[in-house]
Amino acid sequence: KRVTFDWSNAKDYINLQEIQAYSEKVEKCHAELHEGTGQGNDFLGWLELPQKYNQEEFNRILKEAKRIQENSDILIVVGIGGSYLGARAVIESLQHTFYSLLPKEKRTAPQILYLGNNISSRYINDLLDVIIDRDVSVNVISKSGTTTEPAIAFRIIKDWLENKYGKEIAKSRIYATTDQQKGALKQLANEEGYETFVVPDDVGGRYSVLTAVGLLPIAVSGINIEELMQGAKDAYADLLAPNLMKNDAYLYAAIRNTLYNKGKTIEVFASYEPSLTYISEWWKQLFGESEGKDGKGIFPAAVNFTTDLHSMGQYVQDGLRNLFETVVYVETSNREIVIEAKEQDADELNYLAGKSLDFINYKALQGTMLAHTDGHVPNLTIMIPELSPYYIGYLLYFYQKTCAISGYLLGVNPFDQPGVEAYKKNMFALLGKPGYEDRKAELEKRLKG
Ligand code: PA5
Repeated sequence: KRVTFDWSNAKDYINLQEIQAYSEKVEKCHAELHEGTGQGNDFLGWLELPQKYNQEEFNRILKEAKRIQENSDILIVVGIGGSYLGARAVIESLQHTFYSLLPKEKRTAPQILYLGNNISSRYINDLLDVIIDRDVSVNVISKSGTTTEPAIAFRIIKDWLENKYGKEIAKSRIYATTDQQKGALKQLANEEGYETFVVPDDVGGRYSVLTAVGLLPIAVSGINIEELMQGAKDAYADLLAPNLMKNDAYLYAAIRNTLYNKGKTIEVFASYEPSLTYISEWWKQLFGESEGKDGKGIFPAAVNFTTDLHSMGQYVQDGLRNLFETVVYVETSNREIVIEAKEQDADELNYLAGKSLDFINYKALQGTMLAHTDGHVPNLTIMIPELSPYYIGYLLYFYQKTCAISGYLLGVNPFDQPGVEAYKKNMFALLGKPGYEDRKAELEKRLKG
C-alpha cells in the first residue's frame, strides 16, 4: 500500500490531454532537480535524504531521545517555521489527541511543548506555569541561530532551567540543533558544551523535517523514526520516474499548475481527521513559502472537516470561484466506534445503527466532494492508508517532491524565502537594533503619519 493521489473527481475541470501536455515540461523540471541544475540548487540536500542520511547522527538522536525519555516529563521544542512545524506535524498526527490529559501510566514518553514560535508573553508565562513541578529538557532549533522569536524564548527558558537545576545540570538538559559551524546559537552551544545536532547547509527549514530538526523531538515523543524514514525512503524510490503518468507527485504538481492557470489560485487542504491539523500547517508553510514569490503562487489554505463545513463550508460551496480543494483522506482508522440501536429513537439516529463513524465520515466526504464539485470547486484526493510513522514519512516526502516540481513549473525558486526578510528589517529598526538607524527614522516618520 502507498499514499496515492487521485484526480478522477476533477475531470470536469481538467482533461487528460491538458495533463499530458505537461509531460515534457515536467521531465525537464525533474532533470533540473535531480541533476542539480535548477534554481536554488544549493538547497537540494532534502532530495536524497531518506536514503543518504547521517547514520552516526541518527543513532545519536535515538540515544539522546532515550536519555530525555528517562529523565524528563516534558521536552520543550524552541523554534519557529521550518524549525518546529515538521516535528509538530508528525507528533500531533500520530500521538493521542489528548496526550497531556491521559493518566500517567498511559503516557509512555515525555510530552512535547512548543516555545519560540511567537512573541506572546501570555503564551510563554502560561507555559512556565505548567512546567513548574516537572522535569524538563529543551531542544532549541534554529538553522541561522539568530532568529528573534526562538532566541528570546531560549534566553527565558535557559534562565528557568538554570534556576531550577543549577548551571551544570541545566547544560546537560539542553540540546541545540543548528548550523554545523556558524551562528550565535552554535557559538553559545560550543561555549556551554550543549549536545548539538546539525541542520545541513543544503537543507532549508521547511524541507528539514527528516533531519535532526524533526527527528529528535519526534523520537522523544515515542514515535518510531526508523519507520518514518522507511516511509520517506519508499516514497523516494516510488517518485523517481520522470514521466508524470507514472509519478503521483509530478501528476499532482502538473494538475495544480493547470488549475492555477485556469484562475484557481487558492488550494484548500481539506482533511476529515483533526489530528492532521499540524500536517496542514506544515504543508501551508512548505507550499506558501516555496511558491509565493515574484507576484505568483497558489495560496495554500486549510480546513478541518466536518468541523469547518459549519463555517468555511459556506465559502467553499458558494464564494468566489478561485478555489480548488485537495482532500486528504485517511482510509483506515485504528479506533473504531459503531452506532448502537436504541429502543427509543428520540434523537432519530437509529437509521445509522450498525454503521461505524468512519463510514459516516466517509459518506460526509463523498457528499461534500460532490456538492463542492457541483459548486465549481475541482476536487483532488490524497489517500493515506492509515496514520502510522511509515505513511506519514511517505506523505512528507511526497509533498516535498510535489512542491519542488510545482515551484519549477511555476518558474520560481522553491527553495528560497526572500519575502520573510521585510518584516524582520522593519521590526529590528523599530526596536532600535544597532545598524538599522536610518530605517528606524524613516519608519517612525511613516508611523507618525
Ligand atoms: O523555512 C524556513 O526557512 C523558515 O521557516 C525558517 O525555518 C524559520 O524562519 C526559522 O529559521 P531558523 O531555523 O534559522 O531559526
